[in-house]
Amino acid sequence: MEAGVRHTGKDADPGTADARFVDRERLWQRHMEMAKIGAIPGDGINRQALTREDITARKLLIGWAEALGFSIGMDAIGNLFIRRQGRNPDAPPVLTGSHMDSQPSGGRFDGIYGVLAGLEVLEAFDQAGVATERPVEVVAWTNEEGGRFSPGAMGSMVFTESRRLKDCLGIADARGVLFADALAETLAATPGAEKRPFNFPVAAYIEAHIEQGPKLESEGLPIGVVTGIQGSRWFEVEVVGESAHAGTTPLKFRRDALQEALAIIAALNDLMDDPTDTVRFTVGRMEVVPNSPNSVAERVSFTIDFRHPEGSVLSDLGNEIDPTCRRSVSRCEVEVREVFHRQPCVFDPQVLGTIESAANKLGLRAERMPSGAFHDALFMNDVCPAGMIFVPCEKGVSHNPAEYASPDDLAAGARVLALALLDLANR
Ligand code: GLV
Ligand code: MN
Ligand code: MN
Repeated sequence: MEAGVRHTGKDADPGTADARFVDRERLWQRHMEMAKIGAIPGDGINRQALTREDITARKLLIGWAEALGFSIGMDAIGNLFIRRQGRNPDAPPVLTGSHMDSQPSGGRFDGIYGVLAGLEVLEAFDQAGVATERPVEVVAWTNEEGGRFSPGAMGSMVFTESRRLKDCLGIADARGVLFADALAETLAATPGAEKRPFNFPVAAYIEAHIEQGPKLESEGLPIGVVTGIQGSRWFEVEVVGESAHAGTTPLKFRRDALQEALAIIAALNDLMDDPTDTVRFTVGRMEVVPNSPNSVAERVSFTIDFRHPEGSVLSDLGNEIDPTCRRSVSRCEVEVREVFHRQPCVFDPQVLGTIESAANKLGLRAERMPSGAFHDALFMNDVCPAGMIFVPCEKGVSHNPAEYASPDDLAAGARVLALALLDLANR
C-alpha cells in the first residue's frame, strides 16, 4: 500500500479519453513528497508563506515541471506559473492552481492539492498526446493562508490588482520580518523563472481544492461544484492599558488590557449570536504584553475573522464591530483596524456547467455547493470566468494536521479538472 494511505477503495473509473492518464499513484506520491517539507507531528505541515519550507516546496515543484519540459514563470509577488504550450501560444491561457503555503498547524492537502492536480493534468495531457488551442497554465499563488503575513490571498489579490504590491511590502510577521524581505529571499531562490506581469489576460480559471467541510463525505459525493464563496472581513484589535504589579495593585488603579479584551470579545460574541449558525466569527490569535503571570497586561492585540454569505449582513454586522469594541472598554484605549474586506462572490455559470458536464462524462456524482473558506478563485473571478471543484476530506477536518483526503478522491477531482480544462482550452 502507498505510504500515508489510510484506506483504499476501488480506484475511480479511469473514465473518458483524455482524463485516463491522470495517475492516482503519481498524484498521491507527489502529495507525500511535498508533505515531507515542513512536516510536523500528527501528519501535518507547517509551510507558511515565504519561509525556507515554502522555498523548498517551490523548488521541488519547479524541478518536477522542468523535468516534464514545461516552462516556468514568476511575477513580482512570487506567484509561480507552469505553462504547457497551446497551438495558439498568443491566446490567453486557461489557468488552474491554488497555493502551496500552509497554516502554522496545517494539513497535507489544503492548497497543494490544486497545484499538484494541475501539474498532474499537464502531464496527463502530454501522455495522452493532447494538443489544446490555448496554453494551459498551473499557478501556485503566494501567501493564500495569511497566517504569517496578514491578510491571506495576497498573491491573487495583487495579481488581479485588487491590492497593490507596494501596500503589502511593509507588512510584518509576528517576529517583525517584513513581507518585502521574505519575498526578496524567495524570488532570489528561484532565479531562472521567466518574469510575468500582473493581470495578464486569462481565458478562464478553475481551482481544485479539498472541501474543508463535511458535506461531500457525509453525502457520499465525490465532487462538489462550487457556486461561490462567502464574504470575509478581517480586523486587528489593539487594547492598550498599563502594566502593573499583580500582587499589589488594587482594582481601582488597574488599566488591565487583558480583562478589557475579554469584555470586548464577550460583547462581540453577543453581537454575532446567530441561531441559524450562518455567521462565522473567530478570534484566532491573541498577543499579550508583557505576557507575564504577575504583571497586569499593558497591551493586548487580537484578530477577528468574520464571514457571511450575504453581502448585506457582512456589511451591517461587520460595521458594528468597531463601535462594539469601543463601547466595551472602560479604562483602556482600543483601536480597530480592518485589514481585509471582501464581499461574497458568485462563480461563472458556464464554468460551473463545464465542471458539471466533465463530472457527468466520468460518471461521477456532483452537486453544487457554496464555499465557506476563501480561495484565490475569489479574486480571479474578478478578471475572468472562474469556478472551483471540491473533493471530499475526512470528517471535513482542515487547518489541522489530521486533514486527510483519499488518493481515489484526489484522482477523481483531477480527472474532472482535466476534462474541464480541456474543454475550456479548446474554446
Ligand atoms: C483560507 O484558508 C480561509 O481561511 O478561508
Ligand atoms: Mn486553501
Ligand atoms: Mn487554508
